[in-house]
Amino acid sequence: MDLIDTDPLERLAASIRDRTAVVAVIGLGYVGLPLLVGVHEAGFETIGLDADATKIDALRAGRSYIVDVAPSEVGALDRTAFTTDAVVLDRADVVVLCLPTPLADGAPDLSMVRAAAETVTEHLRSRNHALAELLRKRSE
Ligand SMILES: NC(=O)c1ccc[n+]([C@@H]2O[C@H](COP(=O)([O-])OP(=O)(O)OC[C@H]3O[C@@H](n4cnc5c(N)ncnc54)[C@H](O)[C@@H]3O)[C@@H](O)[C@H]2O)c1
Repeated sequence: MDLIDTDPLERLAASIRDRTAVVAVIGLGYVGLPLLVGVHEAGFETIGLDADATKIDALRAGRSYIVDVAPSEVGALDRTAFTTDAVVLDRADVVVLCLPTPLADGAPDLSMVRAAAETVTEHLRSRNHALAELLRKRSE
């Protein structure tokens, strides 16, 4: 027996193909913000989530703090919600983590990634219980 029902995955694949999937990017830094711009340009509705309220305020005002992203590219993000509130993940079909992994004693500190994965799992649970359970089991 499959670990998960495949129907949700087939529905997700179809929503990515037809661009109806909502894509969330967590961490809007040097990696996350250009990624969000690219995903939006590809035709998706996007959600940008960052813990830093000053970055969210800048993006909402159409300003960029990343040299690789022009203000005009931020201004063009008309299908994007910028927020510090993880509750928006309830609407996300795809979530990409672009969070810091600083080196600690020569090894990457994954605590921020783990904490964000927990948050994502909680919000996935309300949308897709099977997928959330699979993620939870894999993280154990
Ligand atoms: N910058 C690069 O050139 C580069 C290249 C390859 C890989 N990476 C990797 O990509 C990842 C992201 O790097 P980066 O350079 O974009 O980092 P960054 O510091 O520029 O951005 C990280 C963002 O995450 C936000 N953040 C931190 N904790 C958060 C939380 N709990 N919830 C929401 N937002 C949170 C920060 O406010 C910040 O805006 C790292 O793992 C890094 O090692 C970066």
